[in-house]
Amino acid sequence: MKKGDIGVIGLAVMGQNLILNMNDHGFKVVAFNRTTSKVDDFLNDAAKGTDVIGAHSLEDLVEKLETPRKIMLMVRAGDVVDKFIDKLVPLLDEGDIIIDGGNSNYPDTNRRTQELAEKGIRYIGTGVSGGEEGARFGPSIMPGGNPEAWPFVKPILQGISAKTDQNEPCCDWVGKNGAGHFVKMVHNGIEYGDMQLISEAYHFMKEGLGMSYEEMQEAFKQFNTTELDSYLVEITTDILGYKDEDGQPLVEHILDAAGQKGTGKWTGINALDLGIPLTLISESVFARCLSSLKDQRVEAAKHFNKQIDKVEGDKAQWLEAIRQALLASKIISYAQGFMLIREASEQFNWDLNYGGVALMWRGGCIIRSAFLGNIRDAYENNPDLQFLGSDPYFKDILEDCMSSWRKVVAKSIEVGLPMPCMASALTFLDGYTTDRLPANMIQAQRDYFGAHTYERTDKARGEFFHTNWTGKGGNTASTTYDV
Ligand code: 6PG
Repeated sequence: MKKGDIGVIGLAVMGQNLILNMNDHGFKVVAFNRTTSKVDDFLNDAAKGTDVIGAHSLEDLVEKLETPRKIMLMVRAGDVVDKFIDKLVPLLDEGDIIIDGGNSNYPDTNRRTQELAEKGIRYIGTGVSGGEEGARFGPSIMPGGNPEAWPFVKPILQGISAKTDQNEPCCDWVGKNGAGHFVKMVHNGIEYGDMQLISEAYHFMKEGLGMSYEEMQEAFKQFNTTELDSYLVEITTDILGYKDEDGQPLVEHILDAAGQKGTGKWTGINALDLGIPLTLISESVFARCLSSLKDQRVEAAKHFNKQIDKVEGDKAQWLEAIRQALLASKIISYAQGFMLIREASEQFNWDLNYGGVALMWRGGCIIRSAFLGNIRDAYENNPDLQFLGSDPYFKDILEDCMSSWRKVVAKSIEVGLPMPCMASALTFLDGYTTDRLPANMIQAQRDYFGAHTYERTDKARGEFFHTNWTGKGGNTASTTYDV
């Protein structure tokens, strides 16, 4: 019997769907699950009539695979991955390949790639995005790790991935060590930002403009015919029209406390570590945290007798203004996300291809959109682009949207509607395009109370000065170091 092309461990929904997708593309898959009854259930149910074969132990799995073996873990990120690796390694031969397809934190992938390379095992940590449907019919796949492994898994991963309209696979080699999982982490951070921006637009329409669900559905449907054409806007349109058993919109019955599994938080933490002003994504994580303080908010709403005033004026004009505010904010979010990716690429010597990353996100994943095609073009035209908003296409949009964007943010503040992401995006752009910020005052204060020194506008960068501001402080500067 022909041996398997690839083994997959973990038969939760993502694992099962990836296996069926691989099978559809002509790859012979060996399926394994820790609770082995799940293997039989899968073979007798969803995988019935396919070429998928089952394994009832890791030894059995290894035995049934063609060498170099390729084994993909579709298990929960964290310790479970390490445990499977520990069990697999003694059973494998030099040159075999382990692929982790979960949402692992990239430092874990750095560590695992190196530890396994020392043992002669080639490791890949890959982001897989697109939910159940993506896994089944074409996800976006972002592999990184040991580059020696890539030629062996490339036909499988590119074969099963989503394709662009030009039939380009939404999967390519990202970079060494944890680069693939880093890029997936930023994808998820951007996903958080997009979702929060859409929620802010919905809130403005519902509470500010007093629109009905039918009207809001129509508005998002129209948004989706513009530059905002994207999966998340599309599903928002569906959600707005979905009725519960009582005939009311289901979303009205859903508790307003957002969950999170941590990838958005990691993105924010990494931005702080790398010194990148990733304000929008970080605000979107905090917005979820704030939403989860439901009981406190209910109390505070009573205590402060909180009201949201109605937004007056022409509804159609406001809707167009919201659309522009959403679009401009989204550009800032992606611009910040790519700033973070660029910084990581430079710090960790990953040599990332930014246009390539945009292409991987163009289809299959949760943030897929027409807009990512424009981002890809921007980086193809100028791979050294520091700020996406400076690309001519995006700069024109930002300038065209500016006055509506300011109007929407100002109005939301005036009527008491929280709008953390649209507001922080605008504030970021105002800061980024200001040649002289008030940080001179911060430097003066630091030097005043702690002799932390400052640079001067009339001297070369890198020359530091200290002033004895009070006459009592002495002339000794503190040692300089930067976090
Ligand atoms: C994807 C998603 C997925 C993520 C969920 C839930 O790309 O398919 O990003 O990986 O786990 O969206 O994330 P939160 O629970 O943190 O919202």
